[in-house]
Amino acid sequence: MTGRVAGRVALVTGASSGLGKRFAQLLAAEGAKVVVAARRKDRLEDLVKEIGVDKALAVQCDVTDEAQVVAMFDVAEAKFGVVDTVINNAGMTHANNAITQDVAEFRKIMDLNVTSVWLVAREAARRLIHAGPEKSAHGRIVNIASMAGRIVIPNVSAYNASKAACAHLTRSLAREWARYGINVNALSPGYVATELTEEWLNGEGGAKTIGKSPRRRIMDEQSLDEALLFLSSDGAKFVTGTDVLVDDAQSMG
Ligand SMILES: NC(=O)c1ccc[n+]([C@@H]2O[C@H](COP(=O)([O-])OP(=O)(O)OC[C@H]3O[C@@H](n4cnc5c(N)ncnc54)[C@H](OP(=O)(O)O)[C@@H]3O)[C@@H](O)[C@H]2O)c1
Repeated sequence: MTGRVAGRVALVTGASSGLGKRFAQLLAAEGAKVVVAARRKDRLEDLVKEIGVDKALAVQCDVTDEAQVVAMFDVAEAKFGVVDTVINNAGMTHANNAITQDVAEFRKIMDLNVTSVWLVAREAARRLIHAGPEKSAHGRIVNIASMAGRIVIPNVSAYNASKAACAHLTRSLAREWARYGINVNALSPGYVATELTEEWLNGEGGAKTIGKSPRRRIMDEQSLDEALLFLSSDGAKFVTGTDVLVDDAQSMG
């Protein structure tokens, strides 16, 4: 490890499983202090034990709730100082297609995959701007979108729409906060084997998808490491408003 994010205070949402957990482990291993957030506190506490209590902090937070998001930043700041790196990773997909889906589920997807991304990014940016240019110039916000924001994955229209919105929200916030030095980028994975996709990947749908993928394989949680680290680091000083696709050519299948 080379300490590429040494000195940073990173907040990772949805860190109780899958990609978020991996991102938190990675950022901590590369020198950042990490605040891990999600609703399942027991899982977060296990992760903090693994990383080390001096380097990580668990905060139970439903990121769709504005008051909880503000409180999460208060707790994070009290322990490690101003959060300068945000990985907006919490997200969900759905089993219903557009015909069987009800409006409550559609709104739930949008609320988590779009509104909470904005809510967490806004809180981070407000505090960075308040802290002054020295701090804000190092601000890095990475929104985990998806290749589903660029191509149509069948029967998950709400998810596809939410991820396209996430990517365009990223560009819009990047424009708005460029003058403060806060860089906002999206990272769009293809299919990665995690808890979210495990059941489906092991079934008929997964086999079909792997068969159609140009490289006939699925990425694992480490496949995004380099892109995530780059976007979180000072190395990305001149990179904002991008959407980095890491899909192993899946979207070309
Ligand atoms: N895996 C893939 O193939 C893939 C591909 C493209 C994009 N992505 C995106 O990558 C991100 C992570 O996915 P994953 O595969 O790692 O899924 P996952 O294992 O299901 O993780 C989702 C995380 O989001 C958290 N979460 C859900 N609702 C929340 C809420 N209201 N407040 C706070 N946290 C909440 C969950 O924690 P709690 O339940 O403890 O709150 C969990 O830690 C998602 O945005 C997903 O859309 C994944």
